Amino acid sequence: MTKRIAIAKVSDVPPGSCISVEADGVGVALCNLNGSFYALDNTCPHAGGPLGEGTLLGEILECPWHGWRYNVRTGERPENPDFKVTCYAVEVEGERIHVLIPRAED
Ligand code: FES
Repeated sequence: MTKRIAIAKVSDVPPGSCISVEADGVGVALCNLNGSFYALDNTCPHAGGPLGEGTLLGEILECPWHGWRYNVRTGERPENPDFKVTCYAVEVEGERIHVLIPRAED
């Protein structure tokens, strides 16, 4: 089961940028890559850096703390694809951006 959560407006995330948002208790890095939106877990596996405050270089998101890099389409590190962060599906409806967060059945 997934929960669909409104997390931002399109105008909050200009092309080439990322923001940190919270979706029902889950930290999410939301990135705008040439008008397409991608959502990843906001916590860097290296030491917990906030990925949404990182730098977007093409489809690569660089962690602001020590520079580990992740592909925003896959969550994989180009240097080591075994290391990845969780990606979440994104839906855009007009000006609203939603993320789909997996939830255990109640
Ligand atoms: S916490 Fe992200 S690179 Fe160190």
